[in-house]
Parts: sequence; structure tokens; C-alpha cells
Amino acid sequence: MAANRILTGVCAAALLSAGLGRGLAAAQPGPESGAEARAARIVSAMSREEKLRLVFGYFGSPQAAKGYMPPKEARMGSAGYVPGIPQLGVPPQWQTDASLGVATQRDSTEPYRVRTSLPSSLATAATFDPQIAEQGGAMIGREALDSGFNVMLAGGVDLTRDPRNGRNFEYAGEDPLLAGTIAGAAVRGIQANHVISTIKHFALNDQEAGRFVASANLAEAPARQSDLLAFQFALEAGDPGSVMCAYNRVNGVYACENPDLLETALKHDWGFRGYVMSDWGATHSSAKAANAGLDQESGYPFDDRPYFREDLAQALAAGQVPPARLDDMARRIVGAMAANGLLDHPVREAPIDLVADAKVAQAAEEEAIVLLKNDGGLLPIARTARRIAVIGGHADRGVIAGGGSSTVFPPGGTAVAGLGPKSFPGPIVYHPSAPLPAIRARAGGAQVGFADGADPAAAAKLAAGADVAVVFVTQWAGESQDVAMRLDDDQDRLIAAVAAANPHTVVVLETGGPVRMPWLDQVGAVLEAWYPGSGGGEAIARVLFGEVDASGRLPVTFPRDESQLPRPHLDGEGLPADRPFDIDYNIEGAAVGYKWFDAKGLQPLFPFGYGLSYTRFDYGDLKVERAAGRLQASFTVRNVGSRAGRAVPQLYVSSPGWEAPKRLAGWASVELQPGESRRVSREIDPRLLAVWDPAAHGWKIPGGRVDVLLAASSRDIVAQAAVDAPAATLPASWRPPR
Ligand code: BGC
Repeated sequence: MAANRILTGVCAAALLSAGLGRGLAAAQPGPESGAEARAARIVSAMSREEKLRLVFGYFGSPQAAKGYMPPKEARMGSAGYVPGIPQLGVPPQWQTDASLGVATQRDSTEPYRVRTSLPSSLATAATFDPQIAEQGGAMIGREALDSGFNVMLAGGVDLTRDPRNGRNFEYAGEDPLLAGTIAGAAVRGIQANHVISTIKHFALNDQEAGRFVASANLAEAPARQSDLLAFQFALEAGDPGSVMCAYNRVNGVYACENPDLLETALKHDWGFRGYVMSDWGATHSSAKAANAGLDQESGYPFDDRPYFREDLAQALAAGQVPPARLDDMARRIVGAMAANGLLDHPVREAPIDLVADAKVAQAAEEEAIVLLKNDGGLLPIARTARRIAVIGGHADRGVIAGGGSSTVFPPGGTAVAGLGPKSFPGPIVYHPSAPLPAIRARAGGAQVGFADGADPAAAAKLAAGADVAVVFVTQWAGESQDVAMRLDDDQDRLIAAVAAANPHTVVVLETGGPVRMPWLDQVGAVLEAWYPGSGGGEAIARVLFGEVDASGRLPVTFPRDESQLPRPHLDGEGLPADRPFDIDYNIEGAAVGYKWFDAKGLQPLFPFGYGLSYTRFDYGDLKVERAAGRLQASFTVRNVGSRAGRAVPQLYVSSPGWEAPKRLAGWASVELQPGESRRVSREIDPRLLAVWDPAAHGWKIPGGRVDVLLAASSRDIVAQAAVDAPAATLPASWRPPR
């Protein structure tokens, strides 16, 4: 959809009367797009009842406790369904979760329950490669369309404010530019299939504990510079048809009835022309939510009442919601459908090539795996190794996946049955892409033994007789609950036992996010493989044997322990589920992740942006210039090692007066043969040189010296150049020209 905003007169009036219309007068409605004109024509032919039909969504699965059965046109076992208006050419909206692929509610027996899973979104962020994210999005979007869906509840972009958030694996890390770029690219890929994607959960849904009742509190300026900026970047990069508002409150007001978020920031300042849908159970009112900017209630019967059905009709009749607002809601929904081709490209049920699609997932995982430690070049596994011990993590059967609404069920069901909670967010699912056979296939003449790790002594014995021991370990995270920042069960002890028996121990982590590593000094090598997805076993084996470079970089800081976090104890931990509480994000403000560690002078276990390679790179010749008022940085990357590899040089900017000493301002993903070099140039978004000024309702660049840092990670700066950035104020609606 086009970038510029249209605000109906009634919305503008409502905003102004609510005192929220700062800058409205300056905002010019943009030219109406063809899709919007078409939507306006269609909506003008609708009855009120038809418009109301479009703004109310049903859950796509039975809810036994509530005696609920979805409408028969819904795809049983799916996330949602919104009836269409066939006589006006508006198809139903068939909604499926989520960012990793076509997910299914766990009790489904429908044929589309078996689909391809990308590695976790955090893994995709670790690629630092928007092209990989877009290809992944294109694959899952096509699977969605071919499974009969035209709305995908993807695009998770909440920042990793806390490594213990149980849904970090569905999001794209701790930095607004990285998260927004990666999530936006995935959305672009999905929507290329005539499938609308969301970005979610707007906003500050940064922990799961208390998600229905907690208030995430953060002042305007730091919010604009952190979590909101991630959404803004994702919106600009991906142009999603829909934004899903979150469960939690923000500064005391439910996100789905929060005009500061929905009207002021999203629709007015950022020019969002699509529709806002609520998370499943996140609507709490009719008139209040509609007037604050919610366009569609989702997932009935998750909410207490069907707020956007009879209640909304009554609110309209009573004049509490202007009829023009209902028109706006319907126009936004139909406009997004038109702009993304849903009116002209019906969903279909077509065969899916699971083998080809697993290769797309595998390619993403291959770039996502981060080599955290590699003493003495232990990896890649030497061709001379005669005996290899593979241990733990169900590596003989598959790779672990995260739990909850995003879980994609693999062909043949989970590779390891009977694990985890029986109810949501369980069960624990393993994708049947097992590392062990993939390792065996590459081991040449070496003997490959396996121990399941249940008995550390037996595992240590196997390791003692091997040239190299590879230990697979897991941390399961799932929606609706947070996790401890550690491996599950006794796996730390397993690693210690194996490492004591064999110093050539390689640890492969399959985790939702950062974990503590008490055994780090005792092992030779560590790979972070995240949740590896449908091609995970092959990808891990290829990296272990050096068929591809280890080239992922950390999209999140790995703390040493919880004492380094802004909240050593998670807010709300241990409280009854229905007791409201506050989460004080003003502690760190916009200093999320590495920015917090930099501001506080803390030494993390592994810093943001970090990752080793099997080759060596040289970064240099940094030049920074001002062209047409914008900063442009260029530099040279050289592969000075002896094998091909992928470099991820990073640019940070630094200036006094910000939330933290530096901010990520760009990066590149560069494949290089040995001896090859490339010149790379990146333009720096001026908002990354600014602070949000609430009084001016815009971005303020104070003017003065800015240092541009060329880096191998946030803690490995290799060159820097100073430049003068003139003072400037950018309006809230500023975005880079396309
Ligand atoms: C989750 C959303 C999801 C929705 C539909 C909610 O519980 O928070 O991310 O899209 O359910 O399944």
C-alpha cells in the first residue's frame, strides 16, 4: 500500500477533541491509491450489517470450554476466519499463524496441519540478511496461499528487552533497525503471494508473564527510539496490510484501545493505511477501541464479549462511534485486501513441495548458525577424525521447535512424541530433520556413535574414546510463559561431564534465545543453532563439516547472568495470572540490549553482532561523506583467510546525549572468496542520529560531531571516522525516499 496517510475527517476530529492531534494540521493526505479507490467504491455499496461483518473475526478452532464451534467455512484448526461479502467480490479472510510457517492449533486433524517451518525468527535475524528473510517469507506465504489462507499472522517484531521472554524466538532481536529490516523483508516475501501479513504485537509485548494484565510502561521518547522504531522500520520495509495490537496495556491503556499507539503513531505519524486487528482476546471494549483505532476484533470467543458485533452496532446506533469510523474500518480492511491482491487471486488448495521448501528453511538456518567459540580451529570437524561422538538433544531424531500458536507441525508429526505440556503451549515439537544421520552422511570413514545424554556417565564414556564429541542441548520456550536463561533440565551437567572426558567437545545449542554457559571454558567450540526449522539437521551438519561458512551473528546480547539485566527478576513473576502489575521499561528506556550493556559498562558473555567465521576478514578504508544532506559510509571488506566465507561488517554511530554510547546504523552481508575484496556503501537513516522530541513531535538532531564506527561486532570496533551532522528536526512522518 502507498505510504501516505489518509485520515478521515471524523478520525481527525476525534483525535483533536481527544487532545491527541499534534501535528495533524501539517499532515497532508496523500493521493488515494487505486486499491483505496476500489475499496471506497466497494464499501459505499455495503450495508451497515455487511460492514460490521468485516470487522469481527472468529477463532478457527473449537473451544470446548466455551461450547464454541467455528463457522463451517472456517479452516478447522486454524487461527481465524472473517466472513466475506461474496456479492461485492470480497472473499472471506482465512487467517493462519505465523512467522515461521503455516501453523496449526494442536488438536487439528486437517490436512494442512503439515507444513514447512523456517528456523525461528530470531535465527533469521541472526543471518543479518534481508534477502534470506524475504525468501523465507515468500516460501511460507506460498504455503499459506496453497493451504487456503490469505492472511498470515506473521511479522513478529517486539524487541528482545529480556532474554527470558518466552516468545523471543518469534521476534527479530534487540535492535530496532535489524528487527524492523528483517521482519519487514519477511512480510514483503509473504505478501508477494497475495497473502496479507501482519506485523505484531503492537506494542511492547516484550514478556509473556502477565501478558493479559500487565502494563508496559515507557515514556514517549524512549518508546519512539526503541520498540516503536522497530515497528516503524518494519512498516516501511514490508508495507504490511495489517498490524496486530498486543494483549498488554501500554502506559496503563490496553494496546488495542490505545490512541497514542494506534491513531497518533501508527496511522497518523507513520501513514499506515491498512487495518489494525486485535490479538486473540486483546479487545476489551467497543466504542473505546473503535474510536482509538482498532479496525477488526479477532478470534471470537477469546474476548469476554463479542465487542465488535452487537455491541458495536449499538454503539453506532447510540452515536458513540460515528458511522464514518465504521466506513473507515471497512475501507481499511478491503483496501488492504485489494492492495495485496486478495480480491483478484482466490486462495487455493494446491500441492506443496515439502522437500523444496525445506531447502529454503535450510538455507536460512545455514546463515543463521553462530559460531560463538572455536578454540584451535576445532571446527570444521577435521577430515582426519576417526571417531565422532554425537550426544543428546534427540539429535538422532530431529531438532526442537518453539511452542504456542506459531508451532508448525511437521510431516509424520513430531519426531519425538510425548514431550512437554499436554496443553498449550505444548507439546514440544521436534522437526524430523535429524543431525545424526546428516553427520553420518558427511563423516567419511569415521565411526559415529550416539548417546542420548540421559546418562552423563555413559555419554562421557562415548566421548572419551572419540576424536571429537558433539553435544546437542536444548532450551524449550513457548508462548504464554517466560523461560529461565538456561538450558533445560540437567544439560549443563551433561556438557560438563562430556567436556571433562574430551577437551575436543563441540556444543550445539538449540535455544529460544540466550542461555547461561557455566561450562564455556571447558569446551572447545560452541555453535548457536537457535530453533533450526525443517532443514535444521542438514544445516547444522553442513556447518559442522565446513561445507558452508559459520556466518550468523548475534541479534541479541548474551548476558553472563541475570544480574546484568535491567530487571534481574522479571516483573510479575509468581503473581496470580489475573493480578495486574506494571513493567517498568523506563529503567533502561531506549537502551535495549547492547545499548544497556554499553551504557552500564557491562561485559556480556557474547556481544550483539558477534560471530566467528571459518575464514578471516579485514575491514578498512572507512569513508564518511554527506551527500544531499544524508550521511553515507563506505568501507572495504577483504577475505584474508584461506576459504570462502560470509562477512557481516557493521556500522554503528555514536554521539553524546543518546540513550547509549552507540546505535547500529547499518550492516552488509558479503560473500567473499579467499583474497577477494568488496567496497560497500550504506546510507545512514537520519532518525538514528536523532532523539525523539515530544514537544516538537519529531526527530531532533542536535547538531555536532557524530562518530561512525566500522565493526565486526558491537564490541569489536575496527575503524572510526568523525563527521559533522548539522542540526535538524524531522517531522514524525519522515521516512526515507524509496
Ligand atoms: C497470539 C498471536 C496469534 C494468535 C492467533 C495469540 O495467542 O498472541 O500471536 O497470532 O493467538 O493464534
